[in-house]
Amino acid sequence: MQYDFDQVVDRSGNHAAKYDERKKKFGTEDVIPLWIADMDFRTAQPIIDALTARAQEGIWGYTARPESYFAAIRAWQKRRNGWDIDQSLMSFSLGVVQTISAMVKLFTPEGGSVLIQTPVYSEFYDMAEAWNRKVLENRFIEENGTWRMDWADFEEKLKDADLFLLCSPHNPLGIVWTPEELRRMAELCMRHHVVLFSDEIHSDLIFHGKKHTPIASLSPEIRDYVVTGISGTKTFNLAGLQASTVVFPNRHMKEVFDHYWQCMDIHRNNAFSLTAMEAAFTHGEEWLEQLLPYLSANFDYVVDFCRARIPKIRTYAPDATYLMWLDCRGLGLSNQELHDFMIQKARLGLNDGCSFGRSLEGFMRLNAACPRSVLRTALEQLEAAVNAL
Ligand SMILES: Cc1ncc(COP(=O)(O)O)c(C=O)c1O
Repeated sequence: MQYDFDQVVDRSGNHAAKYDERKKKFGTEDVIPLWIADMDFRTAQPIIDALTARAQEGIWGYTARPESYFAAIRAWQKRRNGWDIDQSLMSFSLGVVQTISAMVKLFTPEGGSVLIQTPVYSEFYDMAEAWNRKVLENRFIEENGTWRMDWADFEEKLKDADLFLLCSPHNPLGIVWTPEELRRMAELCMRHHVVLFSDEIHSDLIFHGKKHTPIASLSPEIRDYVVTGISGTKTFNLAGLQASTVVFPNRHMKEVFDHYWQCMDIHRNNAFSLTAMEAAFTHGEEWLEQLLPYLSANFDYVVDFCRARIPKIRTYAPDATYLMWLDCRGLGLSNQELHDFMIQKARLGLNDGCSFGRSLEGFMRLNAACPRSVLRTALEQLEAAVNAL
């Protein structure tokens, strides 16, 4: 089946946070929403068909999770990433952010410290701080528009950390970590006895011939040390269904995690997430293989447009995710001015760069997972606003 990602889908009746929370987030409805990480594309037809059939059943009582659910996720990881997961060490979690929150609460002491690599997905800060843990920032070093890890600082900060939250691949910088880098991170964590959680939610959205390596797949020693969060919600645009998977290194950690959620009686999939995830991981590949080149061409479109028509804004095509990191320092605006400028002058709803790296000035994040015609309008608005500065 041929999918048409150029089709503009009207989400006005969709109860989409991306649209319906514009007033709350930006103070106005009059922005093109290129912020929260979901896509303006309909998902794969086999998922829609499976959900339609489920809806037709007319009974959506408490759901039991069949063996085939985790088996489908396991088979996907084996097929696409060569990662052979022990199914008995997989747990359900509502979302990867909920998993991060539980990791902080359950596997760090009161007053403990969480190491993150900034700029990074803002919930990494928020979930650590929600439990009053100290955030240790291993800041990426920027050189001519490329970002690299500061290894010496990483090791220094590990000495004080209880938990390292790895974003693999990395949001918002779009980095796909190499096996060598991952091995080095894991070995340092082991040396300093720091629990490693790897958020791999974006791991199916990989470009430019790069390859995602699940850190837990590197060796038995590393597998025994790592907790991983995976999900089909980014890959297949199913975030509203709220289901993800956690892979544990041992039964003890799994039991601690499962017990925590049992205490709140949160352990079942809802009827629709169960159906959608299984259909996605079993029949979703054809759609994904068409989506990826479309996204990649969107990145190129934004890069070329900025280079030719808005040179004060610099960006690059990320190797992963559908999120683009805009260097707006050429505009000479403070963070507050840049925030206001994007909303009031460019009429764009973007994410402020300083929410990903609190010490950063002059960056924004743009979600490029929309039809190209929407991107074109957004970039033309941006160009006109920059020209009028
Ligand atoms: C790195 C990362 N982790 C987790 C999430 C959200 O995960 P969930 O919806 O499963 O809580 C996002 C969403 O943008 C993300 O970028």
